[in-house]
Amino acid sequence: MAMSVTASGQACGATVTGVDLTAPLDAATVAAIRAAWLEHLVLAFPDQDMTDDDLERFTLCFGGFGDDPFIAPIDGRDHVIAVERRADETAPLFAENWHSDWSFQQHPPAGTCLFGVTIPPTGGDTLYANQHAALEAMPAGLRRRLDGRLAVHSARGGYAPSGTYGEADQATDRSMAIRPSEAALATQLHPIVRAHPETGRLGLFSCIGYIIGIDDMADDEARDLLMEMYRWQTRDEFVYRHVWQPQMLVMWDNRAVLHRATGGYDGHDRLLHRTTIAASR
Ligand code: SIN
Repeated sequence: MAMSVTASGQACGATVTGVDLTAPLDAATVAAIRAAWLEHLVLAFPDQDMTDDDLERFTLCFGGFGDDPFIAPIDGRDHVIAVERRADETAPLFAENWHSDWSFQQHPPAGTCLFGVTIPPTGGDTLYANQHAALEAMPAGLRRRLDGRLAVHSARGGYAPSGTYGEADQATDRSMAIRPSEAALATQLHPIVRAHPETGRLGLFSCIGYIIGIDDMADDEARDLLMEMYRWQTRDEFVYRHVWQPQMLVMWDNRAVLHRATGGYDGHDRLLHRTTIAASR
């Protein structure tokens, strides 16, 4: 059966069928998936009965493994983490704020692969915000204030000992293997408006949260500007809502979208296995 790509009809996202991810992919299929990924930014592959070996092999078709700090891998794997929540868990939801994965790294991952192992019957959708569309529709006045600026990124708000997932969170009943560390205090600069490294299309990269300031700008002014940017870049018109199914693989382009988790599934387990695709250097 030939591969078929059906756009979501929302701000980004497409469903891909007619491809078997439990078997090695030939070069033409990898190229077709990459082209669809660059066009739609988020691809969902339903009905893929994948093992972790399959997930790793698929990831490596698109680059090396990314470096995943602050979350321990699952047993027996170096590059697969579990995004997990038990039915009775009371710890705050993981990844509920908009973000681009690990944007505080010097070379943030190009993409993320997330495979649905246990999917609740309701809730737990993942939202994606198209950052090319957000930039292209941005009012000229706001854009002028952002163009040419460098954002200061850091994991400190999340993964430092004092952060959201820091020492206090370690005392909760969270099932995810989060490992806070002083290493989260490091900072890294990235342009706010930047060209996608593969397509050249301009977009906004990351958002307040992992962005803690703007280089060469007073903190108050930077916070106000980052909040204004945040309100714009997460508007409904730029958002795709992804509804999960068990045995569905989703890959997204971290260079082009923000994403966030949603709740609404208390009383149900949710488990997904995740890898990241390293940026090409
Ligand atoms: C993530 O940010 O990787 C998790 C998204 C989700 O749980 O829906």
